[in-house]
Amino acid sequence: MSDRQVVLSGMRSTGQLHLGHYFGTLKNWVALQEQHDCYFFAADWHALTSEYEDPSRVASSTLEALADWIAAGIDPERSVVFVQSMVPEHAELHLLLSMITPLGWLERVPTYKEQMREIEARDLSTYGFLGYPVLQTADIILYRANLVPVGEDQASHLEISREITRRFNSLYRPVFPEPRALFTPTPRIPGLDGRKMSKSYGNAINLSDPPEVIREKCRSMFTDPTRIRRSDPGHPETCNLFAFHRLVSPPEVADRVERECRAAAIGCVEDKKLLAEQLIAFLEPLQRRRAELLADRGQLLAILRRGSERARERAGATMAAVREAVGLDYSRALEGMGS
Ligand code: TRP
Repeated sequence: MSDRQVVLSGMRSTGQLHLGHYFGTLKNWVALQEQHDCYFFAADWHALTSEYEDPSRVASSTLEALADWIAAGIDPERSVVFVQSMVPEHAELHLLLSMITPLGWLERVPTYKEQMREIEARDLSTYGFLGYPVLQTADIILYRANLVPVGEDQASHLEISREITRRFNSLYRPVFPEPRALFTPTPRIPGLDGRKMSKSYGNAINLSDPPEVIREKCRSMFTDPTRIRRSDPGHPETCNLFAFHRLVSPPEVADRVERECRAAAIGCVEDKKLLAEQLIAFLEPLQRRRAELLADRGQLLAILRRGSERARERAGATMAAVREAVGLDYSRALEGMGS
């Protein structure tokens, strides 16, 4: 038996990954592979909670996301990389958990209340959307995961997962460890306009953006608002653009920009050009691997099938214990009935 902890995490596959995903999530995942047994999956069923009216892009987003993960350093040999819908055990466990989850717990989740209020473009008053945290709980405990790396905004989901897990364990049998949140330090990733980088704000730099798109996006970036004239000294510590230098530029470049910006020796226009070239260079190896993976879809598909098979091995063992705990194990039931 290995005493390594099991880590599980997933991402909804609803579109292009951007630098926020890279620095906020992927980089952490890559590091976690060193010390833990990791399960990483594309949550394509979760994507349907918002994309159900037009699911035409979910599958291609899933494949592109997986290519990005692997290009960013997720090793499909070391970690189990899979697609949620290729492991139907998620659905079975979700159904059983739905039986024991009080509606009140789901209605209280802050992200639920918030999104119902804020998202008007889509009708989210569905059973699936309310049950999002139940499916997410199934995702986690199906692998008897110990640790779930999550952002602060997902903390309430993990809390409800722990409650559902405790309820299952106490109603039936202690099949599952209680998953714990692994809060990993992540820098705030600003978007082009200084707000948090997000697809829905339209302020993201995608991992797949070609050089000319990156140059164009950098031209439109907000910089230090207090630096009005070229001769005004800048404030790198509060400048949105400089935050990116710290993330993607070699330290000596970032240090030089910091000095020259404060001394008004480099202007914002020039700095934007410089940053664009740094970003292009930073993303180049990732984009090359991504393109290779997407050019050989047979290989990508084979990686996923293999990952999903490995996931099913562990999921299947858990489900056998679950069926027994709930009492729906018919070979045993038959024995218990005698002749
Ligand atoms: N909710 C996560 C997201 O917004 C995706 C997800 C689904 C997940 N199931 C999970 C994350 C289980 C961690 C653990 O992208």
